[in-house]
Amino acid sequence: MCGIVGYVGPKQAAPFLLEGLTKLEYRGYDSAGIAVFDGNKINVEKSVGRLSILQKKVENHMPVGTIGIGHTRWATHGRPSDVNSHPHTDCTGRFVVVHNGIIENYLHIKERLIAKGHVFTSETDTEVVAHLVEEYYTGDFEAAVKKVLAEIDGSYALVFMCQDHPDKLICTKQDNPLVIGLGEGENFIASDIPAIINRTRKTYILSDGEMAIVTKDSVWVMNRQGVPVTKKIFEVNWDAEAAEKGGYEHFMIKEIYEQPKAIRETMTGRLAKDDSRVVFDELKWTKEDVANIKKIVITACGTAFHAGIVGKYYLEQLARIPVEVDIASEFRYRSPLTDEQTLAIVISQSGETSDTLAALKEAKRLGARTLAITNVVGSSIAREADQVIYTWAGPEIAVASTKAYTTQLISVLMLALYLADLKGTLPPERIQELIKGLRALPGQAHELLEDVEPVKTFAQQYGFNEDVFFIGRSLDYAVALEGSLKLKEISYIHAEAYAAGELKHGTLALIIEGVPVIALATQHDVYEKMLSNIKEVKARDAVVIGIAMKGDEEIKKYVDHTIFIPATDKYLAPILAVIPLQLLAYYAAVTRGADVDKPRNLAKSVTVE
Ligand code: F6R
Repeated sequence: MCGIVGYVGPKQAAPFLLEGLTKLEYRGYDSAGIAVFDGNKINVEKSVGRLSILQKKVENHMPVGTIGIGHTRWATHGRPSDVNSHPHTDCTGRFVVVHNGIIENYLHIKERLIAKGHVFTSETDTEVVAHLVEEYYTGDFEAAVKKVLAEIDGSYALVFMCQDHPDKLICTKQDNPLVIGLGEGENFIASDIPAIINRTRKTYILSDGEMAIVTKDSVWVMNRQGVPVTKKIFEVNWDAEAAEKGGYEHFMIKEIYEQPKAIRETMTGRLAKDDSRVVFDELKWTKEDVANIKKIVITACGTAFHAGIVGKYYLEQLARIPVEVDIASEFRYRSPLTDEQTLAIVISQSGETSDTLAALKEAKRLGARTLAITNVVGSSIAREADQVIYTWAGPEIAVASTKAYTTQLISVLMLALYLADLKGTLPPERIQELIKGLRALPGQAHELLEDVEPVKTFAQQYGFNEDVFFIGRSLDYAVALEGSLKLKEISYIHAEAYAAGELKHGTLALIIEGVPVIALATQHDVYEKMLSNIKEVKARDAVVIGIAMKGDEEIKKYVDHTIFIPATDKYLAPILAVIPLQLLAYYAAVTRGADVDKPRNLAKSVTVE
């Protein structure tokens, strides 16, 4: 996720570009840049770090000109640095591009262009787009952009500027947002409405595959074939604060709804086209490397630790490697039995959690190979680990982690399949089946999010209870742990998660009439056992809400309410089953009037021990 802006009109472009980027910093903040045409040439100013650094850099020599583009970055390809910051240019500096998304086939295009003499300065996927437009340009800007779009694969929102055509910007989108703000004698482009809301409330929301040619007096929208598209004006009636949250009341619910996209992005370029295997270009492990891994230890904190627990099931069952999972603050002080034959995996959204970083250093000191799964390119943990798998969830603003968790699950599952392939622990058909299941997930998550009314109703009904229990077996137990943490941290309801088989060893004493029990029953191999546990709590008059897969009619006989998730493989079920639990926590917190995005006593990134 990054933020992009564009301006063409009679006024100076730079002030709008910088102001617009300020409103988009929630989309990314590791570097920023602007490009403005001064009547002669395009001047680019960019720098690593927060937007304020760029603002300071240009405050005494603001680029002059009335057409320009800008970008605030959340790194995916290439660490945050001055050269990797956008805008990117071709060899001549005649073409300038800003991009939000991932160009999947950039390496292939880059190699071809290098062979033709192009010289690249950054590690980004975006720079190939600028070079490619130069390659195709014969005087017709629009025709060159169309050729570029026919060649690139992936997700993108792009804005192009060309020195030879200083009256227009060309923009397009695929799977990433882009809006055009319609002004009087001026027009604006932005990733999101907050960037333009102070200038105009009239917008065109571009759809996938559409391309627009934007001048100060006109906006021409067409489809990929060049056929004109008639757009309806969308009048924005949100206030500026709501606009930043995309019209949602809180960042947390916005981020819950971003999960289909975050899941899709995290898989981008990592699943072979024929579904035969997972491709991790960033790992490049050989069969021997993998054969030498005798043990895996996963360490993390909080929600990321819960992702690690799911990871244990994935890695042990699919890749047949023994896995220990440990809370980072425990691992670092317990003299762990870790050596060169251990792969230490740390999971961290922020990449800055102090305990996780210390655990990583300790594993390294003991000789382990280290792998980080993190959401922040260039973070301390990413820099410290031998290797990194990035989750491409985009910035997570709400303190309670949601989309980072689901993308962590996707990453560990892909890692387990990658290792299983190299170790030969799964038949090829099974790998293929799971990859097909992964591909279906974004659509299924979307389907789940379309009907949230039942969860909302339960949250309103039971949101004032003081205790809630979550139970499950196998992978459902791991998800129960996360469901209970979500509820505790944002609604302040006391919640506990138990392996359902453990209830009779103590906890059952707490189950009395009316206590809500959320029972996860998505794992078919322990399904009958789970039904017995549900009967145990029902016999004590608990109110049971079952989470089950669509098509499971049996469960309705034993529970008071059921929430169905789309039918999927047992290994993929956690990724869907957690979504109703996130929603339950969210709506319970809203019902109780809690500060959802900033729960008491908590911080987003815990950089102290
Ligand atoms: C809970 C939550 C925290 C974090 C934990 C680790 O919703 O967000 O439990 O998961 O503080 O943070 P990261 O993943 O940044 O290392």
